[in-house]
Amino acid sequence: MIYQIIPYGDPVLRKVAVDIEKDSVDVKKMSEDMFETMYAASGVGLAAPQVGLSLRMFVVDGRPFNEGEDMTEEDKDPSLVDFKKVFINAEILSEDGEEWGFEEGCLSIPGIRQDVYRPEYVTIKYFDTDWNELTETYEGLAARIIQHEYDHIDGILFTDHLNPVKKRMLKNKLADITKGKVKVDYKMKFSK
Ligand code: NI
Repeated sequence: MIYQIIPYGDPVLRKVAVDIEKDSVDVKKMSEDMFETMYAASGVGLAAPQVGLSLRMFVVDGRPFNEGEDMTEEDKDPSLVDFKKVFINAEILSEDGEEWGFEEGCLSIPGIRQDVYRPEYVTIKYFDTDWNELTETYEGLAARIIQHEYDHIDGILFTDHLNPVKKRMLKNKLADITKGKVKVDYKMKFSK
């Protein structure tokens, strides 16, 4: 089942999402649907609030970032090999290393891409869909995708990380997204 993606401006994107109680939600089915939704929109990450569910869960599949036809082996990011995962009730334990810039986008904010600075490493504790508790450290683009999606379950969007000048420049574009005045080739749930 493909969910409609919630656009910038909807309050659900600003809520701090709540932990999923074991067995209260079919997390396997929900993650399958979230993957299907994400692939249909050509995304590499999707958080539950982006499909209107204020729950602490997100899915990632960074492999497409490593598969460009014009990509040389040197361009590839080893952190993305097999990087298809579901993170349930995640908690970031630490973020380390130098902050580096990468141009981020977001399925809830179509048509806008901006450099965001984040630390290089992230250590995260979470449950998988079998409810195994895991603690792992990620780097590179894998860390980047996790940090972006983790922000979503705390009600934070990548545009929040921009400086005031950039934010002001994007104000009208963001307002247009909220009003549904944006071209997008996947299903979004505009309020009217
Ligand atoms: Ni996003």
